[in-house]
Amino acid sequence: QNSTTQTLIDLHEQAAKLYHHILVNTQAGKQALNYLQKRGLSADIIDQFNIGFAPAQRLLSPFFKEKDIDYQMLRQSGLFIEDQEGKLRDRFVDRVMFPIKNSQGKIIAFSGRLLSTENTDMPKYLNSPETTIFNKRKVLFNFDIARKSARKEQKMILFEGFMDVIAAYRAGVINGIASMGTSLTEEQINMIERVTSHLDVCYDGDAAGQNAINRAVALIGTQSSRLELGVVAMPVGVDPDEYLQQNGPEKFQQWLKDAVETPVAFTLHFLRQDLNLDNEADQLKYLNSALRVIAKVQSPLEQDVYLNQLVSEFQLNKESLQAQMQQIVRQTA
Ligand code: UTP
Ligand code: MN
Ligand code: MN
Ligand code: MN
Ligand code: MN
Repeated sequence: QNSTTQTLIDLHEQAAKLYHHILVNTQAGKQALNYLQKRGLSADIIDQFNIGFAPAQRLLSPFFKEKDIDYQMLRQSGLFIEDQEGKLRDRFVDRVMFPIKNSQGKIIAFSGRLLSTENTDMPKYLNSPETTIFNKRKVLFNFDIARKSARKEQKMILFEGFMDVIAAYRAGVINGIASMGTSLTEEQINMIERVTSHLDVCYDGDAAGQNAINRAVALIGTQSSRLELGVVAMPVGVDPDEYLQQNGPEKFQQWLKDAVETPVAFTLHFLRQDLNLDNEADQLKYLNSALRVIAKVQSPLEQDVYLNQLVSEFQLNKESLQAQMQQIVRQTA
């Protein structure tokens, strides 16, 4: 590890300490602390994730200036924005600060959340830019903690947002991870399959979340043959954090256990959700798209399970379903 890397990590560790101090010990952090408490985050959790607050007034620029840190280092850190005169101003202003750590648990970036998203066109979450120490394709929130637990449990849960990872942690589920506001990448899949044999994907219960599950499942299917997948669909309209807030930790844990389905079962539910299956045209549409999915199932046994479900639900005969599936295979070959 070279000294630039070490210095940049150092700057992040110092910044996190300062943000955390502002949040928990000062008047400037009061409103943010209130906000986090309302969202159910205890002092312990705020400490555990080293959450902080970047106040409205300049914080890091005077702090590091006083410490006489090399200008080029500060510039490279991503913690500042350079103005026209080359002066560095704090990038994060008036935001709740979540440190982002690498696999070794070292802080390499931040994500900052606005206290309120009303009357603003600024993004809800602002992430650090890419730097020599932060490549967001290769980072998973809470991976350093989750991988320790996954070594024993052989399981991780992939959430959409880090507030969901934190929610899970509050409910005693510490093997949650999240990508950094982008879709899952190959690099992240590699990281995951190196430390666990099973991954449950649990995204938000909205259209965006459901679509993202399909994309994630498809990508993992092509990238990894080792990883065994489950899908946890959330109730419509809520994300895991909201579910915990509304239902408490026991129900939350229960949901994560009981709502797991195979990726195929999830896709079948997904395909039919906007269709009216009392209507023959919609029924055929569903059956054809379902057979297209079932045709790709590798395990003959698993394939049989889904075919039998269609047989009994739609009162069909299995031979015609199989014939239709063969036709679909031939057409798409
Ligand atoms: P969500 O909009 O679902 O946010 O985006 P959330 O996790 O539920 O956050 P809260 O509960 O409103 O605080 C999911 C993820 O997408 C990224 C973040 O990583 C977020 O966790 N995101 C979202 C951004 O990077 N920028 C944004 O402006 C919004
Ligand atoms: Mn503390
Ligand atoms: Mn979402
Ligand atoms: Mn969400
Ligand atoms: Mn949320």
